[in-house]
Amino acid sequence: MNELINAVTAFIERHHSEDATGHDWHHIRRVTDMALFLQTKEGGDRNIIHLAALLHDVSDHKLNGGILDINGKTASNVILDLGGDFDLANKIGQIVNEISFKGALVEDNVTSLESKIVQDADRLDAIGAIGIARTFAFGGNHNQAIYDPEITPTNHSTFEEYAQSRSHTINHFYEKLLLLKDRLHTTEAKRIGKERHDFMVSFLEQFYSEWSIK
Ligand code: ADP
Ligand code: NI
Repeated sequence: MNELINAVTAFIERHHSEDATGHDWHHIRRVTDMALFLQTKEGGDRNIIHLAALLHDVSDHKLNGGILDINGKTASNVILDLGGDFDLANKIGQIVNEISFKGALVEDNVTSLESKIVQDADRLDAIGAIGIARTFAFGGNHNQAIYDPEITPTNHSTFEEYAQSRSHTINHFYEKLLLLKDRLHTTEAKRIGKERHDFMVSFLEQFYSEWSIK
């Protein structure tokens, strides 16, 4: 198992090395470290959590030209290519499929403790100071405006609508980031998430106070 984890780590480090959309190798490393930390508190199969965290963005729709449903399949194929068996490949593929955020009004459907832990770890990296930095990096990379008070946020009810929407970056806080606190599963992630959420709320208050001088 250690050999497989080392091979997947080396593959993924190369795979994400060029990214400038917030999905760089450091995001993958932070999510993996957080997932392994959550596992020490919450339990679950450590090797499955480790591999799923490493592979969770391997073919995200924002990186693959807009295909919504091949992330899990690609993750399974990497496991098979690097010597893992079918059962393991299926388990990892399922977790990777389950964990992504698909819109404010689209319910999460995570079916195992391992899935919950990897989803929590990924979501913690989307909020707080690092979450703010990643969001503006993504917005800049996609030519989005920082803010436009005339354009209000949308609660997307399908993954397609959410994936295609292009608004200004402040709206992304309302369409995703501020919602994540209440969509965390594990006790430890909720504790860490609260601090990161509160920091985003302060950031937005300061942002609006600088935007319009009264
Ligand atoms: P994650 O890797 O946490 O699942 P995503 O794949 O949804 O996150 O997106 C990667 C990063 O880009 C995240 O920090 C996210 O907040 C940001 N991002 C995604 N969509 C948008 C958007 N429409 N506007 C601004 N930032 C975005
Ligand atoms: Ni991610």
